[in-house]
Amino acid sequence: MHLTSEEEKIFNGEFGWAYQVSMRILVRLGELFGATQLIPIESAHISGVSYKTLGDAPIDFFESLVEAGGKVQVPSTVNPSSFDPEYLAKRFPEDYLKKQLHVVDLYEKMGIKPTLTCTPYYLRQPKLGCHLAWSESSAVIYANSVLGSWTNREGGPSALAAALIGKTPNYGVHKAENREANVLIEVKSTLRDETDFGALGIHVGKLLKNEIPVFEGLSRCTKDDLKQLGAGLASSGMTTMFHYQKKSIKEKLETVFVEADDIKNTIENLSTSFERSDLIFIGCPHCSLREIQRVAQALKGKKVKKGNELWICTSSHVRETAEKYVNIIKEADGHVLCNTCAVVTWIKKLGIDTMMTNSAKTAYYAPTLNEVDVTLASMTKCIEESCK
Ligand code: F3S
Repeated sequence: MHLTSEEEKIFNGEFGWAYQVSMRILVRLGELFGATQLIPIESAHISGVSYKTLGDAPIDFFESLVEAGGKVQVPSTVNPSSFDPEYLAKRFPEDYLKKQLHVVDLYEKMGIKPTLTCTPYYLRQPKLGCHLAWSESSAVIYANSVLGSWTNREGGPSALAAALIGKTPNYGVHKAENREANVLIEVKSTLRDETDFGALGIHVGKLLKNEIPVFEGLSRCTKDDLKQLGAGLASSGMTTMFHYQKKSIKEKLETVFVEADDIKNTIENLSTSFERSDLIFIGCPHCSLREIQRVAQALKGKKVKKGNELWICTSSHVRETAEKYVNIIKEADGHVLCNTCAVVTWIKKLGIDTMMTNSAKTAYYAPTLNEVDVTLASMTKCIEESCK
């Protein structure tokens, strides 16, 4: 990799250990993937925040970066933590809360905004065609495919290193030639709701390795549907972007057909329980304003049944913007939680064994990461179930 003289100095430690170790991570990564240079990034988004998923091991590393004076060079945001400040914070041991707050504090000391959301694009939408270093797979695929920004699927450490240097190696989808679709997915089924879109993502993600699909047949879809499609694709596979407009196809591509049965079977296979659910969870990835509005409309004038828990997870930014809808949800005894989600918190410790969700990504991960049974169903059905 070619380094400028300033980059060489950073590499050799002339600007301190925090920048040296970050530069070394980026150069190693770049060399592994055949990058020729570092390119400036507009922003970084860093996963690896929830103390539940992170554990103690990386905390020493973050402390060392802070002690060495490491500060981010570009606007940087972080993924959800393991609890929200109001509802869940009271339900976990003090020790867990202290550790979690310490992790967030360390990130803040490096100049990172404690946004604690997996949908940073609702807070600040990156520009079309700009380069990013993001490390939340659902946000990466959304940025590349829906927002038209350019980011590889970083790991937490490489996104943090990129934030501290303000640059990333130029490989993968940072190059125009690697952003072309190379497999056509013909969807032969009408997708009814966001859950069908998520299930399509899980089904296709399993079939692809790291190809870039272009979908045909997504006649009516919202950005929220595309968010679910991307989250599904990036969960069951390594896909970093997709196209959903056929005009982006330049040549004849290998074609995969998706039938109605593929969607139905995926939803059935992701559902491990059809019993009553202890928790009904909406907001993976974190809800948009429109999704909170839909929940409020569905809940208006109803009550969540005693003994049921309904969580709607979003960012604090969206929650503030959605105040009137949040009030409707609260009046119905639902909980609008920010800074966390059901996957990255200790739901099992709250006595939750079964969960219903409209998110195919959550249904894909929760049985292993949270050791709970899951029912996957649309938002409408989830809300109906919560009031039954
Ligand atoms: Fe976000 Fe949690 Fe889903 S971090 S993408 S809501 S698993």
